[in-house]
Amino acid sequence: MGQPVPRYDAAAKVTGRATYASDMPLDNPAYAFLVTSAIAKGRIDRFELDDAKRVRGVIEIVTHENAPKLKDSKLFSNGGYAGTTIQPLKSAEIAHDGQIIAVVVAESYEAAREAANRVKVSYSAAAPSATFDSPGTTTAAAKGQNSQFKEDPKVGDFAKAFDAAEVKLTASYATPTQHHNPLELFTTSCAWTGDNLVIYEGSQYVHGLKNGVAEQLGIDADKVRVVNPYVGGGFGSRGSMTPRTAIIAAMARRLNRPIKLVPTRDQGFTITTHRAETRHEIKLGASRDGRLVALRHEGAEVSSRPDAYCVGGTKTTTRLYVCPNVDSLVSIVRADRNTPGFMRSPPEVPYLFALESALDELAVELNMDPVELRRINDATRDPIDGKPYTSRSLMACFDEAAKAFGWSQRSPQPKSISDGDWLIGYGCAATCYPTLMGPSAARVRLQRDGRTRVEIAGHEIGTGAYTVIAETAAERLGVPLEKVAVFMGDSDLPPAPVAGGSNSTASTCSAVMMVCDQIRQRLFKALMPSDTLADKAKETVGISPAPSTQAAKGDRSLDIEKAFDALGVGVVEEYGEWKPEGAPLDSFRAMHNGQVRLVGGHQMKDQIAYAFGAEFVEVRVNRFTREIRCPRLVGAFAAGRIMNPRTARSQLMGGLIWGMSSALLEATEIDERNARYVNDNLADYLVPVNADVPGVEVILLSEEDDRINPLGVKGLGELGNVGTNAAICNAIYHATGQRIRKLPVRLEDIEL
Ligand code: MOS
Repeated sequence: MGQPVPRYDAAAKVTGRATYASDMPLDNPAYAFLVTSAIAKGRIDRFELDDAKRVRGVIEIVTHENAPKLKDSKLFSNGGYAGTTIQPLKSAEIAHDGQIIAVVVAESYEAAREAANRVKVSYSAAAPSATFDSPGTTTAAAKGQNSQFKEDPKVGDFAKAFDAAEVKLTASYATPTQHHNPLELFTTSCAWTGDNLVIYEGSQYVHGLKNGVAEQLGIDADKVRVVNPYVGGGFGSRGSMTPRTAIIAAMARRLNRPIKLVPTRDQGFTITTHRAETRHEIKLGASRDGRLVALRHEGAEVSSRPDAYCVGGTKTTTRLYVCPNVDSLVSIVRADRNTPGFMRSPPEVPYLFALESALDELAVELNMDPVELRRINDATRDPIDGKPYTSRSLMACFDEAAKAFGWSQRSPQPKSISDGDWLIGYGCAATCYPTLMGPSAARVRLQRDGRTRVEIAGHEIGTGAYTVIAETAAERLGVPLEKVAVFMGDSDLPPAPVAGGSNSTASTCSAVMMVCDQIRQRLFKALMPSDTLADKAKETVGISPAPSTQAAKGDRSLDIEKAFDALGVGVVEEYGEWKPEGAPLDSFRAMHNGQVRLVGGHQMKDQIAYAFGAEFVEVRVNRFTREIRCPRLVGAFAAGRIMNPRTARSQLMGGLIWGMSSALLEATEIDERNARYVNDNLADYLVPVNADVPGVEVILLSEEDDRINPLGVKGLGELGNVGTNAAICNAIYHATGQRIRKLPVRLEDIEL
């Protein structure tokens, strides 16, 4: 552990041997193609299917009139499995543009597509409400609508303190709809053998999907298996079940034939989730010397008509800095849209954009260096509940990143640095992300020659999960890394949590470590009678109920062959279930039911756990064309023990790049008359290419935290892309003197 070993799955991926869900061979499959709604609100009056049915090879076309009946599933964030409660093919009603309204199944993909294009639909359309400010939306406080949103954090007396503050700032910010756009499309293949269903689908949560589809089909969950050893990008889009899966499963059952669905890129924009657009008003009151005395964060998010999806990031923004008087409120705006969902660093990306921009504005007001402003308000305790941070290296990150970036060279005056036609600006912002963990099971099998098999239904979504799990097993068992085989992404394996909320390494590696220690315990007990392994061995072998970071360092592998001889077996296999401290009593039952019980962050009993970082960026704005470039991104991060610096660096680098992208490139544009996504393809939905990111530097700070979990691991998959958007806007202000509070920043927003 802690070594930058190459990726376990690297060779398989670059040679094309990695099999993704839609690569799985099926026996005589039929092919499905979706027909999606051309209106956002109203109802279907009539289908004309004759033309479509005449296409050679068409097997079946289902609409709400003849689709298999499915049971409902609750929203993921209300304890269910689903990313939306909008269930297509159930009635003639249309809830959003791009809703699935028919599925064509044919002998070939081409025939299914051709027939789908010939399906004619008559609608009675009504005027939809698209987003903020659209007529017909409704707005209400998030609290009470969504069981995951429990509180609007507050402490002290904000109004009084803000009134009396020496320096005051009020500013409003906005972030757009964004779509995950993983390279792998939202494919689903379903094959039945008798009563047993196998689903091949890219998923960040195979046990959730298995249980959710079983619930919708009304069958025993043990009859369903979800398989996807590799996932071509998730970013939150594959964490919850979408309606397509049960539909395809039910159609495959009816036809008694495997069905393969490969939706198009544009359909992916409406048949799954997305990052909701948000608005924020921040009020900051401070003393002249920079101490925050009052902070208020009011956020609003757009969701669908039936679902109050809510990311609710004030839980983080109200706890990041010391402030005695805090207030917050999150509201949900209901519109005629598909339900939004998790997208990388769900609440922190939009919510910290607002706070970290406002802090920079306050620094300007105070004529103070923005790093110093953060130092003055650095917290050791959660200002809302008074609980101590398990560890917090925010300012150490600022210092390291500032040094690497050359922050001291910066003259604070806007428009003070230029290079030919380019105005240059420097900006910075904090990042943080809660340390989350969930109950996880694992099975490990050790053979006498050291070959090891680790089984855990975790998910390799590109993060390096295979690699860190293999490293954990190799170290705990004292076998060479090459001898460890890891099996993931299959719901027949022991359950692991959703690969979301940056919990995977902490959860799965803790479980694997525990089970490896069970094996050691068995081997050790077998060797105990021997004199050669007395008390000394006990220490060096490091068998203890909860090995700490220190104990792991002193570990030495035991003599496996001797122990196997003593046991008289050829294979030792152990299964175990690990749960983090403070996990609720029903954790293991929920784990087997595919329900997530993540703990950590601010919800721990006596402490609060977050990973931190600081990000510095340089932007260049062309004084004639207003083109905005970002030649340098520098981030320093502290996230407890780093299991593998190579995969960690990749995650953080990707995060920084995506953070820049969230400031300058990414937005799903909405036609407000039709509540329809316009740029629903990879040509018009802008994502960064290499030329957009000439320089990215990641600095990993060492941080020891033995209070979070036995490994001392904080998640970092989502840490990198938080705050970057604010750092960019802060740098644009420095370059141009212009404060931009609405993302993404386009060159037409710059006035010079
Ligand atoms: Mo991540 S958005 O929690 O998959």
